[in-house]
Amino acid sequence: MEIADKKVLLTGATGGIGRSIAGMLAAAGGKLTLSGRSSEALEDLASTLPGQGHAVLAADLGQPGAALELAAGAGEVDILVANAALPSTGRITDLTDEQVARMLRINLEAPILLAQALLPGMLERGQGKLIMIGSLAGKAGSPRSSIYNATKFGLRGFVFGLAADLAGSPVGTTLVAPGFVREAGMFADSGADAPPGLGTTTPEKVADAVLKAVDSNRVEIAVAPIVQRTMAHVGLMSPHISHRVQSGSAGQNAADSLAQGQTDKR
Ligand SMILES: NC(=O)c1ccc[n+]([C@@H]2O[C@H](COP(=O)([O-])OP(=O)(O)OC[C@H]3O[C@@H](n4cnc5c(N)ncnc54)[C@H](OP(=O)(O)O)[C@@H]3O)[C@@H](O)[C@H]2O)c1
Repeated sequence: MEIADKKVLLTGATGGIGRSIAGMLAAAGGKLTLSGRSSEALEDLASTLPGQGHAVLAADLGQPGAALELAAGAGEVDILVANAALPSTGRITDLTDEQVARMLRINLEAPILLAQALLPGMLERGQGKLIMIGSLAGKAGSPRSSIYNATKFGLRGFVFGLAADLAGSPVGTTLVAPGFVREAGMFADSGADAPPGLGTTTPEKVADAVLKAVDSNRVEIAVAPIVQRTMAHVGLMSPHISHRVQSGSAGQNAADSLAQGQTDKR
């Protein structure tokens, strides 16, 4: 599908990766509806984007019913990019039940409900694309990330099952799964270092993968250096090996430092 003149709903538009996705989709001629919690931040972002006809729609996806309200408010959408998420790090015993419920709602329930609400219109109009921003944390577990892992494993399963349902239809779905992203976003904001030797990627590379996903039949596009993608795949194929590697003090300390740096985003 061509992006020019298509209506795009982008959640998490104000985040480190969302800003790059917004910029690249707008440069490709998309008409964006930008979503996040702050109207002011969304208006500021919209004013910097190339092209005309962008809109903003504030929504707190942590609230019950907000995803459906957002879908209804956005109207006819050709491309959904479900990108909003919380880092959801920390030991489960250090999180309140309200925090856990909000993490599950924002990271997993909201993307599913947005897809469910927007899909019938896409099928009726004979075109559409549902892009979900997952993570390599949807392939391999890591310490202090049990809730984040749960949501990203869940989103990965949702896209794969939905893709199978949509086979032969004019609507497609793709999971874009980044590894550690430097320069901006929830990992960079934490101030933590990536585990040695795994490398990092950039918000621009994630945005570029989103652009490719619009016109691709692939169900999953991973965005990370080869070593990191391989390690994630090992974690998927052999959780026991991955668990042993991450159980050492280096892995535990790195996970503590990441969770500590993300407590403000719980
Ligand atoms: N950064 C990485 O290293 C990395 C790696 C793998 C995958 N990812 C994935 O990439 C996506 C973008 O992450 P990022 O790094 O750009 O994160 P980020 O900078 O923390 O941005 C998160 C975005 O989600 C929005 N958001 C948070 N809570 C919300 C709520 N209650 N309702 C509505 N929107 C809410 C934020 O908007 P407001 O705060 O303005 O409301 C913001 O726009 C996520 O799905 C993440 O899991 C990131």
